Amino acid sequence: MDRQMTAIVNARLQGREGLHRLSIDGEHFAVFEPQSGETEAGATEIDAGSNLVIPPFVEPHIHLDAAMTAGEPRWNKSGTLFEGIECWAERKAMLTHEDVIARAEATLKLFSRHGIQYVRTHVDITDPNLTALRALLEVRERSRDFVDLQIVAFPQEGLWSYPGACELMEEALKLGADVVGGIPHFEFTREYGVESVKWLVDLAQRHDRLIDVHCDEIDDSESRFLEVLAAEALRYDYGARVTASHTCAMGSYNNAYCSRLFRLLEKSGLRFVSLPTENLHLQGRFDGYPKRRGLTRVPELLESGLKVAFGQDSICDPWYPLGNGNLLRTLDVGLHVGHMLGMEWIENSLSLITENGAAALELEDYSLVPGHRARCVIVQGESPYEVLKWQLPVLASIRDGRVMVQRRSE
Ligand code: FE2
Repeated sequence: MDRQMTAIVNARLQGREGLHRLSIDGEHFAVFEPQSGETEAGATEIDAGSNLVIPPFVEPHIHLDAAMTAGEPRWNKSGTLFEGIECWAERKAMLTHEDVIARAEATLKLFSRHGIQYVRTHVDITDPNLTALRALLEVRERSRDFVDLQIVAFPQEGLWSYPGACELMEEALKLGADVVGGIPHFEFTREYGVESVKWLVDLAQRHDRLIDVHCDEIDDSESRFLEVLAAEALRYDYGARVTASHTCAMGSYNNAYCSRLFRLLEKSGLRFVSLPTENLHLQGRFDGYPKRRGLTRVPELLESGLKVAFGQDSICDPWYPLGNGNLLRTLDVGLHVGHMLGMEWIENSLSLITENGAAALELEDYSLVPGHRARCVIVQGESPYEVLKWQLPVLASIRDGRVMVQRRSE
């Protein structure tokens, strides 16, 4: 593939009437103008065929180091987060540099075929050799042509509960990790969890890094590390650089507590990432009937003006045996679980797998605007409703004016 384009014709844009011609000058968008009359795409033009053209999909939360290891060395029988962490600890002992690179690159290529051009991966740094981190740093460079990869230094076995984890975090940042992670609900005690959050926020500020914490990924209504993360972010005016991932416990909080919590969340301006397929699978495992859905309060967060993105979390790993790289599948599940199939939600839903993820990753130059990098996908459908209803493969993925993926319409 990899052809250089000079224009996208017959393009439908969200929020604009009619069809448009998006001209491309080198690696950047140039003029956007209404399409005049019948036009046939030439050799260096691509015909969007009246379909929507949107910014590339953003995968804001994946674990590339664990991708495609489901069943190795054993299957997660209970389906719980904690057994997943045990299985992963066994698989982690078998990691090699080449093994991580091969699986990570295969996963990124799978993502690319689905129109994803931006990925944030968590990488487990609770490993004295930092094998996965070193491999992913190499993958970040090797994949630049087709994906922007952000790496989170993620202490899977805890910062306070895994000996040496804080030193390994510092080392990971020195080696080049982009984002500081955490997992307070997995720490041995509540105090460890609180202290770990305060420590990681300070660490990120000292190194001028973003933050993305696995926060309250548990059905325990007493798991309240989100308020600690939000308060620390507010105290240092750092909220737009902080992502709270999962926040499943919020689905179990009582409404009176949530009312107080949301006041803080709105002031802090935190970013949120929800992982619908993963948490629907992992949570509710200790419930009889009725079983909780295990998701955070997605519509309420959005209605409060906070940005929520959906991510996949896993591709065939110890926590989740499925996953195919298609974010439209994730969006579909998330909208179902969140009771968000009202037309207003559907019409705005693509933002959950595009611009809200871009906000979490603090991407510059992201939206479809003349002067920005010519990066976009042509999806099948003239409206978000059709795109979601049909869930067909992307027709094209264009990056810096080059066609990375192109298919015939169905
Ligand atoms: Fe995760």
